[in-house]
Amino acid sequence: MHVQGQAYAPAPEFVAQANVPGMESYADLYRRALESPERFWAELAAQQLHWFEPWKEVFRWNPPFAQWFVGGKLNAAYNCLDRHLGSNGDKIAFLWEGEPGEQRRITYRELHRQVCRFANLLKKLGYGTGDRAIIYMPMIPELPVAMLACARLGITHSVVFAGFSAEALKARIQDLGAPLVITADGGYRRAKEIRLKDATDEALRECPTVRHVIVYRRTGSPVNMQKGRDYWWHELEAGVEDECPAVPLDAEHPLFVLYTSGTTGRPKGILHTTGGYLLQVTLTMRWVFDIKPTDVYWCAADIGWVTGHSYIVYGPLSVGATSVLYEGAPDTPSWSRWWQIVERYRVTILYTSPTAIRTLLRQGDEWPQRHDLSSLRLLGSVGEPINPAAWEWYYRIIGKGRCPIVDTWWQTETGAIMISPMPGATPLKPGSATLPLPGVVADVVDQDGQPVPPGQEGFLVIRKPWPSMLRTIWGDPERYRQQYWERIPGVYFTGDAARRDEDGYFWILGRVDDVINVSGHRLSTMELESALVKHPLVAEAAVVGRPDELTGQAICAFVSLKGSGPWDYDQLAAELRDWVAREIGKFARPAEIRFVEALPKTRSGKIMRRLLREIVTAREVTGDVTTLEDFGVIQRLIR
Ligand code: WT7
Repeated sequence: MHVQGQAYAPAPEFVAQANVPGMESYADLYRRALESPERFWAELAAQQLHWFEPWKEVFRWNPPFAQWFVGGKLNAAYNCLDRHLGSNGDKIAFLWEGEPGEQRRITYRELHRQVCRFANLLKKLGYGTGDRAIIYMPMIPELPVAMLACARLGITHSVVFAGFSAEALKARIQDLGAPLVITADGGYRRAKEIRLKDATDEALRECPTVRHVIVYRRTGSPVNMQKGRDYWWHELEAGVEDECPAVPLDAEHPLFVLYTSGTTGRPKGILHTTGGYLLQVTLTMRWVFDIKPTDVYWCAADIGWVTGHSYIVYGPLSVGATSVLYEGAPDTPSWSRWWQIVERYRVTILYTSPTAIRTLLRQGDEWPQRHDLSSLRLLGSVGEPINPAAWEWYYRIIGKGRCPIVDTWWQTETGAIMISPMPGATPLKPGSATLPLPGVVADVVDQDGQPVPPGQEGFLVIRKPWPSMLRTIWGDPERYRQQYWERIPGVYFTGDAARRDEDGYFWILGRVDDVINVSGHRLSTMELESALVKHPLVAEAAVVGRPDELTGQAICAFVSLKGSGPWDYDQLAAELRDWVAREIGKFARPAEIRFVEALPKTRSGKIMRRLLREIVTAREVTGDVTTLEDFGVIQRLIR
């Protein structure tokens, strides 16, 4: 394969040691997957994972519902822990650092012991295969312990990011119908305590399904414990055994549900199952992160998002890697923090988001230059398109021009990385996620599903089911079908726009639906709007994303008020921002609130967000406005 234009070819030294050395190796894998996908995935599943019982059928497709490795039995926690104990029991699984500075080194043997003990504790409370648990915890080792203990017993977990508010937690507990919540007294972020148990108490006022709350003591600050419902982790754990057998589970057993924003006000519970998910996160650790036994790998995401599920917990542990786990913020106590961590643990692979890179870049080169970053050999990016300036800084200042950058495109729904360079093979082009991984049949099409020519923008779709794809939306298979498989018949609709260049490289252009991407966090405009209109003074709200140099997109809310005032607009804007923080989480606070008399609507009453988007980006409206009910509204908005 020949790559034109300005591209960074992998260095010969990197290729020489790479898991996938050179473009021929990539092309060979890609071709084999295309020719006989079932054989391709089956061979890798047998080779990469431990199975208690083999599958009877590789793939069953009852469109749009897929099953992989039907009848096979395995356990994700067994694959992540037990199978390493023989030769790698003393290897470090997690190098943990708390924000206040505590350090813990946890070997695979120790992690296994803790997971078994916590699983025994769950059993003692009566939980087992088929149950569901909500996990709402800070970034401490007990978070993966809780996840893996659930996985060990076949309890489907749903981790709720600790930055979510009580309201958002409540909605997730209710949707999942969970009887069990695992949380902590609190955690640390920017030298402040996040009071997780308080938020849990507030959420639980309206969650009748919850019978037990297990509370890990992290900060030691006083919390309320409700008798008969709330239990301290350490008290329940006293006296349990160190061994707990992993339950052989069906390959299609639900491993986790992770809520993400869709195009309506209601978050979607994305369901992932066991075998296919574990296979692809394992493979991408090898293909994309080129993982080796000696690596010290650091994915600086939060476990509460899919990046953390796949690339802090299941992927790295499945391959027996050593990972850094850091609890807090990059600026605490100073902007040196991340570079100190890289230096202290001799991190070799760093995986983060463009927003984080841009934020660190803004602090100046002195911070990274004060530290020895020579251990780094590979860098990764995820969550949004990376702009050339950020790419260059990451490449030169952090990677010192020696480290390939893997720009990885994927989604909560895809479970694992789908489009990305293989660092020892793919020539890089800054800003492009490059080429689909083997087994991923990606395309750019028009609204009828016809491929568009190179250079032209279209919808990014995946033509064939893949093992780690979502299986459904929790409790709503119809929404799953409509959202992903009916927009363009017969193919998986990603919700992203993209174009391919002459070399077949993919350039991801952003969302085409009512989803905005702020700092790599997905937010639904509808969800934000329904939060805003719950406020007693708000009549109507429309939310759009506007381009932002730091966060990619920023939230801009247009709000009309009930009654006639007079209002103190500044104070009201502050109040509404706090309101959204309460309803969803601080990370969802609008950057800008514009008070308007009325919102532009079609004659049938639909808010024309496209016009609002044009107003916040270009300050003018160019497209078709013939369906607009009252053109005067637009003129008033522009002014
Ligand atoms: C959306 C998925 C997958 C983990 C983080 C986000 C955007 C993701 C890239 C990339 C351009 C990207 C897409 C996608 N996105 N990675 N490398 N280049 N855009 O997961 O919250 O499910 O969001 O993030 O728009 O659809 P998520």
